Order: sequence, then C-alpha cells, then structure tokens
Amino acid sequence: MEKILDIITEKMRKAFADAGYDASFGRVNVSNRPDLCEYQCNGALAAAKQYKCAPIQIANAVVAQLDKADYDLVEAVMPGFINLKLSGAFLRGYLEEMRTAADFGVEKLGTGKTIVVDYGGPNVAKPLHIGHLRSAIIGESLKRLHTFFGYKAIGDIHLGDWGLQMGLIITELQERQPDLCYFDPDYTGEYPAEPPFTISELEEIYPAASAKKKEDEAFAERAHTATFELQNGRPGYRAIWKHIMDLSVADMTKIYDNLDVHFESWLGESDADPYIPAMIEDIKAKGLAVMSEGALVIPVAEETDKKEVPPCILVKSDGSAIYATTDLATMVQRMKDFTPDKILYVTDKRQALHFEQVFRAARKSGIVGSETELEHLGFGTMNGKDGKPFKTREGGVMRLERLIADMTEFVRAKVVENQIVDESEVDETTAKIALAALKYGDLSNQPTKDYVFDMDRFAAFEGNTGPYILYTIVRVKSILAKYGAWEHLPIQVPTNAYAKDLMLSITKFGPTMEAALKSTAPNLICAYIYELAGCVNKFYHETRILTEENEELKAGYIALIGLAKDILEKCIYILGFSAPDKM
Ligand code: ARG
Repeated sequence: MEKILDIITEKMRKAFADAGYDASFGRVNVSNRPDLCEYQCNGALAAAKQYKCAPIQIANAVVAQLDKADYDLVEAVMPGFINLKLSGAFLRGYLEEMRTAADFGVEKLGTGKTIVVDYGGPNVAKPLHIGHLRSAIIGESLKRLHTFFGYKAIGDIHLGDWGLQMGLIITELQERQPDLCYFDPDYTGEYPAEPPFTISELEEIYPAASAKKKEDEAFAERAHTATFELQNGRPGYRAIWKHIMDLSVADMTKIYDNLDVHFESWLGESDADPYIPAMIEDIKAKGLAVMSEGALVIPVAEETDKKEVPPCILVKSDGSAIYATTDLATMVQRMKDFTPDKILYVTDKRQALHFEQVFRAARKSGIVGSETELEHLGFGTMNGKDGKPFKTREGGVMRLERLIADMTEFVRAKVVENQIVDESEVDETTAKIALAALKYGDLSNQPTKDYVFDMDRFAAFEGNTGPYILYTIVRVKSILAKYGAWEHLPIQVPTNAYAKDLMLSITKFGPTMEAALKSTAPNLICAYIYELAGCVNKFYHETRILTEENEELKAGYIALIGLAKDILEKCIYILGFSAPDKM
C-alpha cells in the first residue's frame, strides 16, 4: 500500500501544478506542530523565491486546487504554510484498505531476497550468560522483521565450538580419568554412545580447566596441543567433542526455546573448518596475504582510516586458525549455500574492529561481492543499577538461566497476588509476561546504547513496558470476546478525536516497520506500539464501546480496536513475544 505521506504529497504536487507552479514544491511532511495540524507543506515559501511573489499568494492558490473531501482542515497560513488535517472519510478508506490487505498492506521489500542473520553465538561447554541475551533477543526480532518483509531469513547460531575451551576440557578430563578409551592412541574399537560426564559435570570441568590454564603453564600447553589435535581429526578427541556438543546443544536448545528464540541453522565454527585450506590458498594465489611477525595476514588499512586498523590475521605463527579465519571461511560457506543479499551480525559492539577487519578482508579477497551487503550491529552492555555490567549479588557473572528464573519468579508473585488467572494457568501466563518484560526492556533501547536492567521497571504493568503492551492487548481481546464475531466488520469514520488519533496512529504502522527494517532498529517498533497502545487506552476510556446503543457506531468502534489489536499483536510477534488471554 502507498504511504499516506506519498498519497497526499502526490495530491499536493498536482495542486501546485494545477495552480501554475512547479510540482516539485508539493512535498508534504508530518507536522511539527501537531496542535495545529497533522501534515504540512512548506513548498510555497520556496516557490515564492522562484516566482518572485508573496508565499501566501501561492499557498492560497494551491489550497484552492485541493480536493476538500480529503481534509477536515486545509488552510494557507502566514507567511505561506499549508496546514492539513485528514478527513474522517479519507482515514476510513485508508484503514479499511489496511484491514483487508495482507499484512496490513505493507510493501514486501524483501521478496526474492535472502538474508543470513548471525546471532546467538554461544560457546559450547560454557554456560550461557547475560552477554548472550542481547544477541538472542535483538537477532531474533531482526530475523522476524526481515521475514515479515518477505525476505528468506536464515538465523544462524554460529556456535563457538572449535576453540581452546574444547582442548581445555579434553585435557582436564584426561587428568581426572586417564584410563578412558578416548585417550588411548592405539584404541581401534567403537567409542561409547554415552558421554563420560553429565552436563553439570561438564559445566564444572570447564571453569576448573580454565582456572588451571592460568596457573599451570604445562597444562595450558597440553590444552593447546589437544585443541590442535582435535582440529586435525584425532579420533578419540573427536568422540569427546561430539559428546560435549550433544550435551551442550541440548541444554542450549532448552534455554533458547524458553526465550522463544529459534535458529534455522545450527552450524558452528567447526563447520567452517573444511573451507579454510582452499580459502587460504586462494588468498595467497591472489597475492593478498603477507607474512608479518610469523603470521599470515591480509593488510586491510585504508588511507581514510582515522584510527589504525590492524591487518586481519589468517594463520597465527603456530599454524592455527583464529576467530577471523573462521568468520571468513563461514562467509565462503554462506555465499556457496545461500548467495545472500545480506549478512547481518549481531554481537557486542566491542567486536566492531573484528568485523571491520573481516569485512574488508572479505571484500578484498572477493569472498563477498558487492551485491551482498555486510552489516555488523554492535549492541551495548546490559548494566546493573550501579551502572556497571550486570552481575549476580555475589558479584559473579550472571547466568542467563538464572536471570530468566529471577524475572519469572518476580512476575509469578504478581500474577499470584493479583489472582490474574486460575492456578492451572499461572505458569503459562507468567512465562508470557516475564518474556515480554525481558525482551521489551531490552528492545525498547537503541541497540547500540548500554542500558540498565531494572526488574521492577521492566515488569511493571504501567509505563513504557512489555507488560503494559500485553495488558492493552488483553483488554481489547476481552472486549472483542464479549462482542462476538467482529473480524468482518468494516472500519467507519471517526466520531471523536480519540478515534481519529487512534486511526492516525494505525496509519503509521507501515512507515514505522520500514524505518525499523532500514535502520536495523527494533526500538522504533517499541516506540510505535507504546504510542499505539496509548491511543487505544485513551479511546477506551473516553468512549462507551460495549454500552453504545447505536449498533452501527458500536460495530465501528469494535472494528477499530480490533484492527489496533491485530497490529499490536503482529508487532509483538516480530519483537519475539506474545500476549496471554488474561492479565
Ligand atoms: N561466540 C562468539 C562470542 O561469544 C560470538 C560469535 C558471533 N558471530 C560471529 N560470526 N563471529 O563472542
């Protein structure tokens, strides 16, 4: 569907032309004086310079050409502004088209295009911590936003499954249980199907090994060797690696499921490994790589750089591949498998330099051509109320599971205390509200900014919060349920100012979603639904809906709040949460 601004701009251009002036002066903007009008055109001021006459003269002539049926207000004011308020009939027609169109008439900008969204990025065998929360929440919503616009969107978790942590676990396990068959180089039988540890043992082994690495140089050395041997295919180590992967992935899946975060692709750094040798040969053959302090690197500095951009390291002096190598090789794989139009990475903004180096290396080496856009969305830190990175009360790193559990308990207490639902529904309702609190609390901030995690504020049923949005949806759902079948009811002209405000807010759905897509900013969707929910609630408070005696008016009210509810629900789906039936 065409945007309102485009429709009325087109009409304004025609009016300028019909009045004898150049159509290009007919641009309409959203009013910056909402107390005076909804839209305005300042073209007469600029036109006056060209036509050497008073702006108000032009404005008056243009206004005379406009179709008054489209506007409640259309006036030329000194020195030459044209102020507009849309008519109820215009709005009714526009909303009725939105209501009956697929996805509210949004233009499917992504049709035929593919995007890979690289998010989540957990590291196998290390527990998920809150640092992984933002990537999961922001990445999931951006993936859903692209899908909404018609993109084929592939969410890839890009597991950290190939690094030193694997060698550390193997080495520590060998110290504890040296007789396991996995460590016997001469072993030729089948390896056991059951892992020699549980997930909780694994979660204890890793930090123990990691601590030992710092104190015990020989241990660290052995762990490096084990990592190297694992990557080079030593069968016993591969078998342990497989056990670690199975346990860890099952555990992660549970947590991501709880967050309603789902990946289309569960590939990891290890899956990029087979692409590395040929990639390096190719880069060498093209003469792009140089030796620097024993390492093989691609220089990526550019003349216009304000800060130093160090070369992108391909192979370290000890022969091993690093983070950048895997990311480049993963691009080779993604280009081969999907030829995407875009790859979007969602990580902590402290990785900005890494992605700058990798993107430049990918362009230089031709791994990613100019038809494919590369974007790194670097997000800020989630802080505690003290303004420092969020910690447990004991000062340790907060595990993601624990954070979700804390928020859930906090919300559960409210649900139980306010007797919102029957006992049998407490769990489900609690989970939905807690997820909304957590996700909206995060997504309502500009991604690049740090924000303060404040459970009280995020979980409040009033204010700019997820639960407030849910509450609005639930309220409308209950009115609709009392009314009965409503889906077929057409939109009517607004009969009061609150209805009109609500209708105007609904028309902003398409432009808002497009802006969120183009600027990779789910926070715009949050700001929008906060405004829309406010309009719904004002309308609800100022209008008798179910008690309205005029059946036709009542049907119009119902159709209007029904459409608003559908839009709110679509938006929260894209943000990654959903509303309960009661609240
Ligand atoms: N595993 C990494 C970390 O925990 C994040 C991976 C992000 N994605 C990527 N393609 N580098 O920091």
